[in-house]
Amino acid sequence: MTTTKSFYINLFCMILLSLFFLSTVYISNSLAKDDMDLYGDMLEDDMVNPFEGDEEAIAIGYERFNSRCSYCHGMRGIGAKGPPLTRGYYKVSGGTNINLYSTIASGLTINGRPTQMGAFSRTIEDDDIWRIIAYMRQEYKDRKAAGSNFKYGVYP
Ligand code: HEC
Repeated sequence: MTTTKSFYINLFCMILLSLFFLSTVYISNSLAKDDMDLYGDMLEDDMVNPFEGDEEAIAIGYERFNSRCSYCHGMRGIGAKGPPLTRGYYKVSGGTNINLYSTIASGLTINGRPTQMGAFSRTIEDDDIWRIIAYMRQEYKDRKAAGSNFKYGVYP
């Protein structure tokens, strides 16, 4: 009698505990997503991009992006075999200026293994990396203004 009773009490506690853990996982995931959504808009304490919003630089960035990035990331960064780069958030690299700069300059490794995202610091000059980032930011703003819902591979 008492053993079945304690069995049910145990069972009840275990269900309660797992509900608790599930809810913490759920809450932390939704918080993380909120953070990501903010990445498209400049973070306040981020490194300053000297070319942010500079029309001439953005035009050069666009041209550089087309010749060096779009064959993997799609025209206007809408995503191809590489992930989209103009939807405002960056799952792997993070979306601050410094995250983007270091990803482009030194490439991405995941668990110590290089990915197809190689390093560009030897073949794209410093200022041009910033111009490309300025272009990516502008493209995000334009797509947002055009009412995009940022579907993978779809412009806007
Ligand atoms: C040879 C194909 C290729 C080229 C060229 C390339 N990338 Fe990538 N890039 C990738 C792939 C694949 C990933 C995803 C890596 C992963 O997560 O496994 C990636 C990831 C990234 C990320 C992180 C995205 C995220 O959501 O976290 C950024 C930022 C990025 N690339 C920027 C650039 C820029 C800017 C250029 C041009 C200078 C460029 N890439 C050129 C293939 C490429």
